[in-house]
Amino acid sequence: MPAAYDVDLLSDTLTRPTEAMRHAMATAEVGDDVFGEDPTVRALEERVAALLGHEDALFTPTGSMANQLGIRLHVKQGEELIADSLAHVLRAEMGAAAVLSGISSRSWVAQRGLLDAAQPLALMIPDGGAYQVNTRLVVVENTHNFGGGTVQPLDQIEALRAGTQPRGVAMHLDGARLWNAHVATGVALAEYGRHFDSVSVCLSKGLGAPVGSVLAGSRDHMAQARIWRKRFGGGMRQVGILAAAGLHALDHHVERLADDHARAHRFAQAAGEAVPGSIDPATVQTNIVVLDVSVTGWTSAGFMEAAAAQGIRLYPVSPTAVRLVWHLDVDDAGTDRAVKALVPLLEEGPAAA
Ligand SMILES: Cc1ncc(COP(=O)(O)O)c(C=O)c1O
Repeated sequence: MPAAYDVDLLSDTLTRPTEAMRHAMATAEVGDDVFGEDPTVRALEERVAALLGHEDALFTPTGSMANQLGIRLHVKQGEELIADSLAHVLRAEMGAAAVLSGISSRSWVAQRGLLDAAQPLALMIPDGGAYQVNTRLVVVENTHNFGGGTVQPLDQIEALRAGTQPRGVAMHLDGARLWNAHVATGVALAEYGRHFDSVSVCLSKGLGAPVGSVLAGSRDHMAQARIWRKRFGGGMRQVGILAAAGLHALDHHVERLADDHARAHRFAQAAGEAVPGSIDPATVQTNIVVLDVSVTGWTSAGFMEAAAAQGIRLYPVSPTAVRLVWHLDVDDAGTDRAVKALVPLLEEGPAAA
């Protein structure tokens, strides 16, 4: 953690590998993965494919690459994907679908990122012919990052599948934090995974690996994605040292996500009780809290500066809302510290600064 911050709630990507994870990395069996000869990478790919209920999987350096490979499996140049307006693939992948694959995008507005199947079903145009861009893919994010760690309801995923499949529209799951959805609800990863044509998951967020994501799908799709990964510059060599971190994370860091969820909820409860309207604790289902600081007159920038002066780092999701993310490197004491420092600041408003 940077020395300047006592409690770093910027993102769950900040986690540093534990000693045990470093040991697993140091002792990993490796080979040249571009030639398909790294046994540890293969073990990770097979394990994640099985967990998600898909035929095969592919290790990638980042979640963005896994998403972009998934997207281009289903959408050709000049065709369209649709996703909600806060989706990571639209807001935070630097226009990659357009830049790398010539894909256009449209979006619908979802409260807290929550999926309402009727919205994408009304938006999609799979049969635009020669007049309108043809929709080929819906991307769903679960949990939803900028929405506040929102878990997507299974009945809405099922309704979306029932509406898209007959019309030839594919579904990709951005499951960077699917582990959190699984732990929060008890729904099996494969139960989430089976409704989608491709699924990306990240090992480098709440699970605490330093690098790594995995794309899962059919055997044929993964063979195509392997070619595109190389083309995008993502063919890696003795990368079993990273896959070993991922395998270690799957063994040791999935169930503990419940601790992150409990701490995030505890913070939300304290903030929500002190300043009604800043957060509804009932909406905090996983490790992310999005706090509306404008309720007491703060801007995001002002609140973040005041929090930083108290040794706490946050992330601005809008001019009026900040995001706090719990992870492996924030414990109960860090959570207490965040409650004690941030709740009075929020209550008192900018005059407190
Ligand atoms: C929902 C979601 N999808 C994808 C990504 C991309 O992951 P990466 O930063 O590894 O490219 C992130 C990163 O935070 C994310 O939150």
